[in-house]
Amino acid sequence: MELRNDLLLRAARGEETERPPVWLMRQAGRILPEYRAVRAELSGFKELVETPEKAAEVTIQPVDLLDVDAAIIFSDILVIPEAMGLTYEMVEKVGPRFPQVIHAQSDVDRLKEVEPEKDLFYTIEAIRIAKKQLNGRVPLIGFAGAPWTIFCYMVEGKGSKEWSKARRFLWQEESLARSLLDKITDATIAYLKAQIEAGADLVQVFDSWAGVLSRELYAKFALPCMERICDAIDEVPLTVFAKGGGHFLQDLASLNCETLGLDWTVDPLEARKAVGAGKTLQGNLDPSVLYAGHDEVREQTNRMLQRFGGTRHIANLGHGVYPDMDPEKVKTFIKTVKEYQQR
Ligand code: CP3
Repeated sequence: MELRNDLLLRAARGEETERPPVWLMRQAGRILPEYRAVRAELSGFKELVETPEKAAEVTIQPVDLLDVDAAIIFSDILVIPEAMGLTYEMVEKVGPRFPQVIHAQSDVDRLKEVEPEKDLFYTIEAIRIAKKQLNGRVPLIGFAGAPWTIFCYMVEGKGSKEWSKARRFLWQEESLARSLLDKITDATIAYLKAQIEAGADLVQVFDSWAGVLSRELYAKFALPCMERICDAIDEVPLTVFAKGGGHFLQDLASLNCETLGLDWTVDPLEARKAVGAGKTLQGNLDPSVLYAGHDEVREQTNRMLQRFGGTRHIANLGHGVYPDMDPEKVKTFIKTVKEYQQR
């Protein structure tokens, strides 16, 4: 299937583009009343993730409603721990909860090897359906959580600010930590390959909790996993988004990936200096800008675009859009990128 809009893929590969492509992290979700309506028909978030036709439907909503240059498959990073044997619950207004967590090596040894076509059939099938329904309009992004971020949830069982338990493992249980990170990495590679096989045109790895690690610990534990993933995926462009990882961008720059995502705390000019010309940068408008007025959204978006310099750039927010944001502001952001004239 020929893509009619392949801006995202060209930008990722470093080819010339008329303008930067634009999409938003968490574009499929609670900002859209149409999403909330589909969700309300089901028992909740998890059932939506596990019902391929519905997951495909909400994947395509932002393409229709917001006019973004890419779709991202509707799922969650927590499907990997679930496939490995640790089920999660998504508690309304609270977030994810794991009834069982990893305490000891025996817990790691009990984890299952993941067969994506079987254990994660729902997301793989959702990709096939979404891909068919998109019919070449825009590329479809697949994704997974980074091993370090998944490790955090598997050890702590719920969200945390400091992830001190997960970090304690790195110092006190080094071999357990390594074996768990290795198993997650194997599952992640298999899962991303299955997504690509099913039709994902680009894949993104979300390291949402990279920012709690020092440069030294990230290099010692997390980076080797990311290296293994980047080296294993050569079928489609890959994006690494290490949120809060501005202090080790130089290390991320050595990864064998096409694009690095930036959160809003990183200055685009500084990032380009640290990363060099060899990679595409994605980001990084402060999501809170979308709480400002429309004029301010336009001004801040243009300023951000200018700082990226118009080449090797994929426009996005510096993290996911927040559920209480006005979709009209999101549209202003997208429209501003689409009208951007270089120089
Ligand atoms: O549009 C998209 O970006 C695709 C869908 C997507 C979701 N989660 C849907 C979702 C993606 C890419 C994710 C990734 C994800 N999930 C991450 C990495 C990105 C990031 O935000 O840093 C993380 C850390 C998670 C784990 C997770 N999922 C948490 C902590 C929560 C609860 C917080 C919240 O916003 O309620 C979720 C739930 C979740 N995942 C929702 C959505 C749309 C909200 C659930 C709902 O509809 O009620």
